[in-house]
Amino acid sequence: MLTAQRQNTKSTSDVSESKWHSSVRPLYFGSLRIDPPILQAPMAGFTNYAFRQIVREYGGVGLQATEFISARGFAWLEREVDAYPDRLWGIRDEPRPLAVQIWDNDPETLSRVGAKLVDEFGVSVVDINFGCPVKDVSERAHSGSYLLRDPDRIGKIVERVVSACAPTPVTAKIRLGCTLDSVSAPAVARAVEEAGAAALTVHGRTAQEYFKGRADWDQIAHLKSYLRRIPLIGNGDLDSPQMVVRAFRDYGVDGVMIARAALGRPWLFRQAAAAWRGDAIPADPTPAEQLDCLLRHYDYVVERFGVRHGTMLMRKYACCYAQGRTGAREFRSRVSRVDSQEAFHQTVRDFFPREGAVRPTDTRRVNE
Ligand SMILES: Cc1cc2nc3c(=O)[nH]c(=O)nc-3n(C[C@H](O)[C@H](O)[C@H](O)COP(=O)(O)O)c2cc1C
Repeated sequence: MLTAQRQNTKSTSDVSESKWHSSVRPLYFGSLRIDPPILQAPMAGFTNYAFRQIVREYGGVGLQATEFISARGFAWLEREVDAYPDRLWGIRDEPRPLAVQIWDNDPETLSRVGAKLVDEFGVSVVDINFGCPVKDVSERAHSGSYLLRDPDRIGKIVERVVSACAPTPVTAKIRLGCTLDSVSAPAVARAVEEAGAAALTVHGRTAQEYFKGRADWDQIAHLKSYLRRIPLIGNGDLDSPQMVVRAFRDYGVDGVMIARAALGRPWLFRQAAAAWRGDAIPADPTPAEQLDCLLRHYDYVVERFGVRHGTMLMRKYACCYAQGRTGAREFRSRVSRVDSQEAFHQTVRDFFPREGAVRPTDTRRVNE
């Protein structure tokens, strides 16, 4: 677990802070430079083009990822892109680097789609999902986290995709294992590296745990000893710039990936990057700036999906932006019923200025 009380138990904490900061270095996936080594996680239903664009505007993210895409459904998705624009939205045109994540259990299907993403879409990284615990993917399709019980098969899949996508880097995202009794991440890490992957990302929970409890950062750190060549990206529960620094400093990961905490705080990457560099951490945007951000996010979504569908999609993001603020519960219940642009605007305008105070401003350096 990455908690305050555990910080001092690691030997690497002995390294002086200034020395640690002077040793920070960018990350490479093959020859692709990821700078800063702070990655935006793939999140189904959330990390579409609009969200990625908002994150990009704040900066501080070294690599962004799409939500996962079913490799088997890819041909259909391309045909139906007008009716179902979500998954492939923006991929061809948006700034690089960009990782696209795919899932399946068939090496042939995955390698065909990986090659297509490289050749036709020009993506920077093809990431393969070996961590999804959702039943439709895992139990029904025997993909995602289901494959963690079979490191050999994961190795075969990665090998095929690597050879189909070369020289574009192929990466794998895993959990610790299927269950707490069957932690397979060390064997999987070896298989992934030997198969030629360019990096490994580990979410420090098993599939059985879903999102319960805390991510086990000791287990993440332990994997470093199984990797000789490729970088290790740690993921799980990072929700502040300070925690990001601790992940690097105390757990020795080469990169970090942030998921849920950024959904309502897309500026978190900028803050984390400053902390990683040893600079002063920028303050949270004021409520008025957060309101502007949410309305801009709304505009991007509505431009693509139209007002009706776009407004419905934005309800969940608005709840994320409100999380942790006074009156968030009441706001959630109001915003979850809005069905027009006017109602959305009014509801969020009522909420944000009402809370005058900015969250505690932290302009200190993280290690001071
Ligand atoms: C709504 C949601 C959707 C997710 N979708 C994906 C996905 O498509 N692919 C993936 O590898 N992980 C997915 N994840 C897992 C996250 O990428 C990440 O591993 C996990 O949330 C732990 O990181 P965090 O504690 O920073 O949220 C999803 C998580 C959430 C909450």
